[in-house]
Amino acid sequence: MEIKGIIFDLDGVILSTDDFHYQAWKSLATRLGIPFDREKNNRLRGVSRLASLEIVLEGYHFSDEDKNAFAEEKNNTYRELLNNLTPESVSEDTRDTLDELKRRGYKIAIGSSSKNTKLILSRVGLLNAFDAIADGEDIKKSKPDPEVFLVAAKRLGLNPTNCVVVEDAFAGIEAAIAGGFLPVAIGDATNCQSVEYKLNKLSDILMFDFLK
Ligand code: BG6
Ligand code: MG
Repeated sequence: MEIKGIIFDLDGVILSTDDFHYQAWKSLATRLGIPFDREKNNRLRGVSRLASLEIVLEGYHFSDEDKNAFAEEKNNTYRELLNNLTPESVSEDTRDTLDELKRRGYKIAIGSSSKNTKLILSRVGLLNAFDAIADGEDIKKSKPDPEVFLVAAKRLGLNPTNCVVVEDAFAGIEAAIAGGFLPVAIGDATNCQSVEYKLNKLSDILMFDFLK
């Protein structure tokens, strides 16, 4: 199948905001006296805020009211951390890769479970860099459900089989496969056995045989 579009996850792929998510969950867990480490954090990659909270609170019982307050607390901490973002937060490698893909005629999109996607993209000056954005505001089911990538592909006007999905999350790779996309792994997702294409840095994608 000819590849015509590339759909990028945001947190942990385009930006290192995955570490801000970790810090914000860690701060909540510490306040509640609940153990939380990087390994557990990896299970939250690609997963919606409320589903992530359920994983953080595994083995503990809280009311729905408490849980909503915890999710809001985490998001407030996370948003404080997002204030550190500037256009310089986008690596040169990432900028050059996006430019080169566009130069070669590919359509590019964001497919993220995050409801903070547009805030983040505007902070780093990338809001208009993509041909389409699909995010946590557009979907009912977060990854590993393929919904967000299907929305992104539709907005690009492409079939899933003509699109690559770049992901740092196991849940995201699973979603890409379920939706019929070609999965490409970076970061934590490179530990995923079911992926053939793995990146050390974003520009590695330019070398793969599925691109022209
Ligand atoms: C994903 C992150 O991109 O967005 C998850 O990988 C996060 O860790 C999810 O929980 C939802 O993000 P937000 O910004 O809506 O809380
Ligand atoms: Mg991610």
